[in-house]
Amino acid sequence: MTVHFIGAGPGAADLITLRGRDLIASCPVCLYAGSLIPKAMLGWCPPDARIVDTAPLDLDAIIAEIEAAHAEGKDVARLHSGDISIWSAVGEQMRRLESLGIPYEITPGVPAFAAAAAALKRELTLPGLAQSLVLTRTSGRASAMPEKEKLATFAASGATLAVHLSIHVIEQVAAELTPFYGADCPVAVVFRASWPDERVLRGTLASIVAEVRAAALERTALILVGPALGSEDFGESALYSAGYDRRFRPNGGQA
Ligand SMILES: C[S@@+](CC[C@H](N)C(=O)[O-])C[C@H]1O[C@@H](n2cnc3c(N)ncnc32)[C@H](O)[C@@H]1O
Repeated sequence: MTVHFIGAGPGAADLITLRGRDLIASCPVCLYAGSLIPKAMLGWCPPDARIVDTAPLDLDAIIAEIEAAHAEGKDVARLHSGDISIWSAVGEQMRRLESLGIPYEITPGVPAFAAAAAALKRELTLPGLAQSLVLTRTSGRASAMPEKEKLATFAASGATLAVHLSIHVIEQVAAELTPFYGADCPVAVVFRASWPDERVLRGTLASIVAEVRAAALERTALILVGPALGSEDFGESALYSAGYDRRFRPNGGQA
C-alpha cells in the first residue's frame, strides 16, 4: 500500500502529468484538496473509489482516512493543487506517515506560477532584466512569514516576484514594492490561470490596485511583479546566438 501525493496542476484537467492521471485511475481511495482540484480529475478514479474532499477535515481526520486505507491495503491518491513542493501542507502529512510507517511517493505537478506565465505569454527571466524568480507570499491566518522573509528583502534584488495567497492585500503588496521597483513597474494579476474563468489584469504598481478592486478578484490569483513582465527592451540570450560555442553546436553551428 502506498500514498501517492500528486500535484494536480493549476486547474485545467489536462495540466496534470500522465503519471499523476494514471495513479488516480489506479487508486481505490482519492483524497482531494477542495475546490482547486478540477472535478474532471475525480472522474478518472475507479468506479467504486472512495472519494473524499479534505477541505473540511483537520490533519487528524485526513490521517485517519489514510490509516483506514492502509489497514485495508488500498493505495491512496492524495491530490493537491499545483505542485506538491510549495504551499501544499504536505510536509506535516509526510511526517505523520513517516512516524506511522506508511509508505508514500510524490508526483510533481504544474505550479500556478507556470500556468500564470503561460497565460501572460511571458518569460519571467529575461536577459539583462531579471534572472531570478522569487516565489513568495504575505502573512496569512494559517502561516506567519518568517521574520527575514519580507517582501522588501526580495524586492531589493529586483528579481521577478510571484506573490501567492495575497490578492486580498494587493494594496499592501503594491505599497511595499513601489519604493524598490518604481510606480511604473509592470504588474500582472492572473486569476484562476488555466480554468475556464481565467482572467488576466495588466498594469503597473500605480494602477493595479484599482484594477483588482474594479474586477472584484478576491481569491486564487497570482501577483507577478518585475521589469520582465512588461518590457520588450531586453537582450537576446547567448544560447542561440550564431557565435556561441556549445557542446551540440560547436563553433556556433558553423561547419
Ligand atoms: C495554497 S497555494 C497552492 C500553490 C500550489 N501548490 C502551486 O504549486 O502553485 C494557493 C495559491 O496559489 C495561487 N494559485 C493556485 N492556483 C492558481 C491558479 N490557477 N491561478 C492563479 N493563482 C493560483 C494563488 O496565489 C493561491 O492563493
